[in-house]
Amino acid sequence: MVDKTLSDLSWDDFDEARDPRSPANDFDAVVDAAISRRGFLGGVLAFGSGATVFGSGLFGSAGTASAAAHAFPFTPIGIATDFEVHVPEGYSWKPLVRWGDPLFSEAKGAYSAENGVSVEMSDKVFGENTDGMELFNIDGREILAINSEYVNPKINLPAASDGVPQSADEVTLLKNLQGVTVLEVADQGNGYEVVVDSPYNRRITHETQMTMDGPAGMSPLGTMNNCGSGTTLWGTYLTCEENFNGYFGATGATEASLEAGYTRYGIGGEGRYAYEKFDPRYDISAEPNEPHRHGWVTEIDPSDPTSAPVKHTALGRFKHENAEMVQAADGRIVVYMGDDERGEFIYKYVSDASWSEGQRTNGLLSNGTLYVAKFYENMTGEWLALTPQTTGMSIEDILIFSRMAGSRVWATTMDRPEWIACNPLKAEGYCALTNNRNRGVKPNAGGDDTSVNGPNPRETNHYGQIVRWTPAGGDHGATDFQWDLYVMAGNPEVYTNEYGGSANINAGNMFNSPDGMAFDSKGMLWIQTDGDDDNAEYFAGMGNNQMLVGNAETGEIVRFMTAPNGSEVTGLTWSSDRKVAFVGVQHPGGSWPDGAGKPRSAVISVWRDDGQTVG
Ligand code: FEO
Ligand code: CA
Ligand code: CA
Repeated sequence: MVDKTLSDLSWDDFDEARDPRSPANDFDAVVDAAISRRGFLGGVLAFGSGATVFGSGLFGSAGTASAAAHAFPFTPIGIATDFEVHVPEGYSWKPLVRWGDPLFSEAKGAYSAENGVSVEMSDKVFGENTDGMELFNIDGREILAINSEYVNPKINLPAASDGVPQSADEVTLLKNLQGVTVLEVADQGNGYEVVVDSPYNRRITHETQMTMDGPAGMSPLGTMNNCGSGTTLWGTYLTCEENFNGYFGATGATEASLEAGYTRYGIGGEGRYAYEKFDPRYDISAEPNEPHRHGWVTEIDPSDPTSAPVKHTALGRFKHENAEMVQAADGRIVVYMGDDERGEFIYKYVSDASWSEGQRTNGLLSNGTLYVAKFYENMTGEWLALTPQTTGMSIEDILIFSRMAGSRVWATTMDRPEWIACNPLKAEGYCALTNNRNRGVKPNAGGDDTSVNGPNPRETNHYGQIVRWTPAGGDHGATDFQWDLYVMAGNPEVYTNEYGGSANINAGNMFNSPDGMAFDSKGMLWIQTDGDDDNAEYFAGMGNNQMLVGNAETGEIVRFMTAPNGSEVTGLTWSSDRKVAFVGVQHPGGSWPDGAGKPRSAVISVWRDDGQTVG
């Protein structure tokens, strides 16, 4: 019998069900160690700019949001607890594309509030649960590539019992509503709208034929659980396969030799969506290697709707959040990537070859070295190369089982690395460490110690933080870096200790669980949240999930947008003229944005009423 609650769980809870905490273990003793470490936190924050500008104390509400608000071209807004979107005065928004909206004429009217969309139309409409996205200007046309991370079966299967698929057709419907949508948008005088039937419009699903390059190449079909995104310097889209493990289940015995890899990646037992009951591809007792074909960074050329996406094995296999590409001083390609699971790692890929505009791009994402981050307590760190020499593993195993390779070199266990963003104005990387209920509580799935450490300084971390690194010599190709915490989220209304947050957190800008991040062209860091929005207890006063803007220099953070209750804000890009921001609202509650029937995840347009740029 299918456990009908599995698809209702958050991905974090799903992971926990796969790897439950033992009733008591040595990690319970870490609380004492954490207390003795608190003196160290002063060092963390003193290194950062936030505390020195705002802090008269290390924690609590020493700073005020208004002190330097003139640096932001809007008046920060308060929290919200309703089922609406709110933006600052002088700004407006409207939906750009909602789950179920047509990409092609034949799908017009395909969506109904009562029935959702049919299986026949499910790959001709915008997918559900919008996530990472990027905009490409191709021959003067505005083309968006947008991830649809996963589905809410109870919303998509109106006639089915409790959101559990009952047929292969229903599985196909759910699969088709995930993946990637490429679509053209245009402003014909009424704000941006989807260009139905544009030759660029395309859906990429679990079934799309792919190729795979790099040392661990295989013949894959499809992409799934596409979370964050990135762009290459040559104008293609990077989509990142995150919680792929949840799609696979076992209906019978599994291969013992693969068990360690399954365990580290949370694969086994019942799948989250029962796909394995109707499609043997998702049944690891029938197709033991299918999970190894997912969990990659996949490149899509939005200019060519007939092109086969390419999975780049050289960038490693894990729960990829996003992929932030920059260039080393000598022209080599650098891609920063986070693995979003409790106690997993931050990675960096560096190409062997250098590149400059106009040169061939072949091999840049298949011939290179994968590194994993080690953060030291003295605020320095280094990127540790994952090679056969350093890990004792074959190059194929390093790439397919990157987590295990990272453990072999004692990489630093992190509080769920989400998006990484690099400052366009100076060599800096930022990673949102969203939260980690298991910090100081139990090891990660590979058995690595997750006691509190420098960039992850709070046990049972409900709030999250953003770590920042500056590569040696201002060169993203360097293997050494210095780090600090840009912000520790927290609640200074509830706590006067480190759970109150760093000094750039106050009652006016509180948030929890930073997740999506992007720098705008002016060097401002936009921060999106995917946290607890019940506005109670630890989270009292934080309201719904939100999007904030951070000043990288001063540390000041102010609130720009609030999203409907129940939703997370994820995915951010801009029109080519920067006058419109496109923002994703995933898994809303209520009946947003239609006001009737089902809630629909959607991308919205946000603009300034005076026509000036938004970032
Ligand atoms: Fe899909 Fe880690 O967010
Ligand atoms: Ca995310
Ligand atoms: Ca998240």
